[in-house]
Amino acid sequence: MRKSSATVFFAALSISLLLYISVSNTPTPRFNFSDSAVSKVWSNYTAWHDCLMQNISKLHDDPNALWGNLWRGLKKCETIDEMKGLFIGDYPNSDETKRHIVPKMELPSVIITLGIGHDTGAEEKLKKGLKHGSEFFGADPMHEINEDLFTKLGGKYFPFAVGATPGLAEASVLINSTYTTKTVVNVDIIYFLKKLVNRTFIDDIWIDGEGAEYGLFDHFYNGGAFDQNGITFCQFNIEIHLPDNLQKKLFHDFIFQLLKDKRYAIYRPVQGSHMRLFMLNYANEECVYKYIL
Ligand SMILES: *[C@@H]1O[C@H](CO)[C@@H](O)[C@H](O)[C@H]1NC(C)=O
Ligand SMILES: *[C@@H]1O[C@H](CO)[C@@H](O)[C@H](O)[C@H]1NC(C)=O
Ligand SMILES: *[C@@H]1O[C@H](CO)[C@@H](O)[C@H](O)[C@H]1NC(C)=O
Ligand SMILES: *[C@@H]1O[C@H](CO)[C@@H](O)[C@H](O)[C@H]1NC(C)=O
Ligand SMILES: *[C@@H]1O[C@H](CO)[C@@H](O)[C@H](O)[C@H]1NC(C)=O
Repeated sequence: MRKSSATVFFAALSISLLLYISVSNTPTPRFNFSDSAVSKVWSNYTAWHDCLMQNISKLHDDPNALWGNLWRGLKKCETIDEMKGLFIGDYPNSDETKRHIVPKMELPSVIITLGIGHDTGAEEKLKKGLKHGSEFFGADPMHEINEDLFTKLGGKYFPFAVGATPGLAEASVLINSTYTTKTVVNVDIIYFLKKLVNRTFIDDIWIDGEGAEYGLFDHFYNGGAFDQNGITFCQFNIEIHLPDNLQKKLFHDFIFQLLKDKRYAIYRPVQGSHMRLFMLNYANEECVYKYIL
């Protein structure tokens, strides 16, 4: 009797110890499934993910069909019950609409614009809904008009293009209301964010790179350049420029990799000759607290 209760006692003790050790060794909040913000939204994210995978899995390995039809699945899946708690706002400028979710708590935001394009209408509308102390940063290789507009907004303007690789490159830029090809200075996005903007937690980045976005796709992957440099985006808006066949393949790989990574959900597709998408981060504790819960 004594012996067996001692055995039970020691067995219980070692099990608690093991549990204690494995719990206290838990490396990231992501796996603290009792309390974390990420765990609270996980089943909603999974419902969205299942919906989209069911809709587009047959487009796997068909970049052309994915380019033409992804928007259908995105439009369908953003309306499921599990996504109804999101309040995605519209911030139009003169030729398109940016999307943003404003934080529920009194926290300032960091908003970055890559490619200002002579128009800060969306930034101005957004600024009214953000908390005191929010910051705007904008880069565009054409300083005429852009510098002035961005400074009036109260933002910090940078006179160059931002992309995956630094150096001189041909880019399509807006001069006197027409797009013209010009050689511009490119600054790499990691250097830009870490050293010039000096921010690594970014609430939203609006990427209008006139083609430069293709080089940035792999930066967003799990373990990619943004993770390696501790850079978080809670939300991003991206315009994907009219693709050739190679770029359709890059886009296809981008979408399926994001789905494999299970970090971002994709909403509000706008399909024209270019495509616009809005992404929301479900895998970062701070982002989920600030924007989803
Ligand atoms: C889980 O995380 C919360 C904070 O998010 C913390 O208070 C709690 O102690 C953690 N639980 C375990 C078992 O680590
Ligand atoms: C994907 O969703 C669209 C829009 O609801 C629908 O028309 C299409 O049939 C769906 N495709 C599949 C394979 O479920
Ligand atoms: C999760 O989904 C449920 C519906 O299943 C919805 O009522 C709830 O608002 C969603 N939660 C969030 C955080 O969006
Ligand atoms: C743009 O317009 C301004 C004034 O109309 C003109 O002075 C300038 O030369 C134009 N620039 C180009 C590159 O066409
Ligand atoms: C970078 O930003 C932090 C605040 O987030 C500030 O303390 C620091 O001085 C900044 N560094 C530079 C070089 O501006």
